[in-house]
Amino acid sequence: MNWRALFKPSAKYSILSLLVVGIVVGVIGYFATQQTLHATSSDAFCMTCHSNHSLKDEVLASAHGGNEHGFTVQCQDCHLPHSPIKYLMKKIVVSKDLYGFLTIDGFNTQAWLDEHRKEQADKALEYFRANDSANCQHCHTRIYQNQPESMKKIAVRMHTMNFQKEPDKRKTCVDCHKGVAHVYPKD
Ligand code: HEC
Ligand code: HEC
Ligand code: HEC
Ligand code: HEC
Repeated sequence: MNWRALFKPSAKYSILSLLVVGIVVGVIGYFATQQTLHATSSDAFCMTCHSNHSLKDEVLASAHGGNEHGFTVQCQDCHLPHSPIKYLMKKIVVSKDLYGFLTIDGFNTQAWLDEHRKEQADKALEYFRANDSANCQHCHTRIYQNQPESMKKIAVRMHTMNFQKEPDKRKTCVDCHKGVAHVYPKD
């Protein structure tokens, strides 16, 4: 076969038809990526590596497991961003965990999690602090203004006090609320 022919302008197909093929391939690629990203965000996916960790049971036992109300907050609702670009960025960061999974001795054991809980929790908190707990605020939209009547007085007082501060002096949700899904370790 004459390889040079590959680089010559095509005589057989019009530029237009090549363009159409290109767009179709691009669109398929786009959706394939979306599908992969979606598949890699389910609880089941997180639990492929964290399968021996008590994380899911902890969520189910917490207020965010909502047995009484019939909802369960998913791992990604709290741990992954909503904006597509940031989502991809975080995915790329998370993909380093594949390396960790393969190299950290005994990673997928409860003993490892128990031993490294504090350090892992603080790493996780960095993400929440970096974006003003955006994932929490995505669901809890009436914390600072227009609070529901049923909200505890102490909660209204603390939230209002926090909101009255200069934006850069405010605490973020996880500064006051640790361990909302997993028990935050004391030491
Ligand atoms: C490929 C295996 C793998 C998958 C899949 C995986 N993790 Fe992890 N995860 C790890 C490893 C390994 C660590 C420890 C990383 C380290 O300390 O270097 C970790 C640590 C974490 C941490 C604490 C450290 C941090 O950087 O925040 C959180 C939170 C976390 N994972 C959440 C998730 C969520 C949510 C999912 C599903 C979207 C998920 N993981 C899927 C392997 C995985
Ligand atoms: C997918 C939506 C969703 C996300 C994300 C979410 N929550 Fe919640 N949260 C809820 C629901 C629903 C309840 C239960 C409300 C009820 O039972 O009245 C709740 C309950 C709570 C409570 C009261 C119960 C308790 O545990 O004391 C606190 C505090 C709380 N969330 C803080 C947070 C923080 C902090 C984050 C981020 C780390 C967060 N939530 C993320 C939906 C969410
Ligand atoms: C300055 C500390 C502080 C900050 C910041 C803060 N909270 Fe709270 N929050 C409290 C206290 C104190 C309570 C009442 C005790 C409790 O329920 O844990 C409370 C209660 C709650 C409750 C339960 C309210 C009820 O009674 O129905 C939810 C939900 C909640 N906070 C979510 C959030 C979210 C989401 C953020 C971030 C947008 C946030 N909080 C920021 C201190 C804070
Ligand atoms: C309601 C929000 C929420 C949900 C749902 C949630 N997490 Fe977390 N996660 C947090 C927060 C906040 C931290 C930071 C430490 C803390 O406050 O307990 C954390 C910490 C972690 C850590 C670090 C170790 C630790 O225990 O602190 C891992 C690993 C983790 N989450 C994985 C998961 C996985 C896997 C799921 C799904 C089964 C999940 N999380 C569901 C909010 C959540």
